[in-house]
Amino acid sequence: MYAQTDLIVIGSGLAGLTFALKSANAGYRIAVITKEAVSENSSYYAQGGIAAVWSMEDSYESHVEDTLNAGAGLCNRETVEFVVKHGPESIEWLVQNGVVFSRRGEQSGHASEFHLTREGGHSKRRVVHAADATGQKVESTLVSNIHNHDNITIYENCIAIELITRAKLDGCAPDACLGAYVLDSENEQVITFIAQAVVLATGGASKSYLYTSNPDTSTGDGIAMAWRAGCQVANMEFVQFHPTCLYHPHAKSFLISEAMRGEGGKLVLPDGTEFMSRYDQRRELAPRDIVARAIDHEMKAGGFDCVFLDMTMKSKTFLQSHFPNIYTKCREFGIHIDHEPIPVVPAAHYTCGGVDVDLNGTTNLPGLYCIGECANTGLHGANRLASNSLLECIVFADAASRHIIENPVKSDFQAQLIPHWDESQVTDPNEMIVVSHNWDELRRFMWDYVGIVRTEKRLQRALRRVVMLAEEVQEFYSQFRVSRDLIELRNLVQVAELIVRSALSRNESRGLHFMLDHPDSLDSATDTILSKD
Ligand code: FAD
Ligand code: SIN
Repeated sequence: MYAQTDLIVIGSGLAGLTFALKSANAGYRIAVITKEAVSENSSYYAQGGIAAVWSMEDSYESHVEDTLNAGAGLCNRETVEFVVKHGPESIEWLVQNGVVFSRRGEQSGHASEFHLTREGGHSKRRVVHAADATGQKVESTLVSNIHNHDNITIYENCIAIELITRAKLDGCAPDACLGAYVLDSENEQVITFIAQAVVLATGGASKSYLYTSNPDTSTGDGIAMAWRAGCQVANMEFVQFHPTCLYHPHAKSFLISEAMRGEGGKLVLPDGTEFMSRYDQRRELAPRDIVARAIDHEMKAGGFDCVFLDMTMKSKTFLQSHFPNIYTKCREFGIHIDHEPIPVVPAAHYTCGGVDVDLNGTTNLPGLYCIGECANTGLHGANRLASNSLLECIVFADAASRHIIENPVKSDFQAQLIPHWDESQVTDPNEMIVVSHNWDELRRFMWDYVGIVRTEKRLQRALRRVVMLAEEVQEFYSQFRVSRDLIELRNLVQVAELIVRSALSRNESRGLHFMLDHPDSLDSATDTILSKD
């Protein structure tokens, strides 16, 4: 089956939805392809908020400096300035679209300006938020606008398998992206989507780790597809571990927002001792790489399963109004956060690297754009500053949309020459256990060998395993009919290999990449850029 439209957006998180709305308003017909329900993505689960210069006491310079400092010398200053300067208008755009953010004095009934919260690495209060469920508010508001837009069609439960490129079809230069093969999981058929341009907004790859704050959708699909299509990928070694995910046997991936530390939360050991002052003078509000490493160190040194975040200095009323979601969730697990500390552990949270793009979100493959967490824009460098990600989604979705509008792609390729997905050589898989086993194995060794603290020996071990898995998965892929699990496993293995190879090529410690054998940073900071040729 063929489906032809003007623009394809793969992913319905904040980046994908923002792009779709902006481009549809300019008259384009948009297909939003998304592998689960439209709101199931990291964007929906975002808690803390969106960083933007809003207060009179704040300045662009300060937001830029904080971002550069967190990024440990590897951010691209031009990108940082570009994103920071578009912060206030991005918040205004969300407000115009109907998003309601928390305001000061709300509890007293005299709401005025936005309530700005604070997170690690920020020298000012500058995080605009909707209590502790910012993502939910933003995502559900934009989804209802998308549903009401005549130019946008959403394809739920449809997973993109592979990009269709000119080079793959007829080997002719110049190469271009022409569309994507997409598996409709409900009807079990592969649809050939064709468009003037494809926008990858597929989110990160944190599911390549055993423990993560992310939903199941974060399997690095866009990064893997772009890589296979010949795109450059950069800085994949910088995997951000969030310091505080809830530690409870039944709490899958539940985040305890950094905004809690911003409002005074203290990290303590099981006996109640505070420890962050031994690691950084900013204590609980040091950038995430420092806090996560400190917790990892304390857990290993003391043989603890977790550490604790103490919020008991705050009243029940404060906690219920500022963190209603966390308060209720912890309560469901029997934790009363107003009078007992919250058990927390670090978990994989954010992919700082990704597909290399410029300030318009364009990749090195004409007709292919990449925005949001799957892109490497230069904003985050070696460590992302908290709450800069949602901002980046909006700013780059806007930039990519403008670029397409101003530079319409004219393809001379005839759509009817694009072949359907070929299933003539494959059969139904006979042992799906191979897929689930390989999936578990991958996520475990990534956690053990490519985690918060790395060594060359552990990375080499991981490389041997990932290469072996890649062969097994490729064999499976070439013999059997595709399923969502198999597509995601293939992508996870691909992305894991990119992470390990990037980590092995960086012989220093910088930001999130900490090597015991090379504990210091080199004098000059360079990006790790991988390309197939
Ligand atoms: P996502 O929101 O992850 O969306 C990706 C989309 O792509 C999904 O809809 C998925 O189904 C789809 N997709 C993926 N692969 C395919 C495929 N092959 N075919 C079809 N569809 C596909 N950042 C902040 O700035 N502030 C915060 O407060 C904050 N809190 C966070 C809290 C949590 C718990 C988490 C997990 C992250 C948080 N982050 C926060 C990070 C931020 O939420 C994400 O980086 C951001 O939402 C990514 O948006 P995105 O649009 O790029 O991707
Ligand atoms: C959080 O609320 O702690 C997450 C913020 C982020 O990842 O930027």
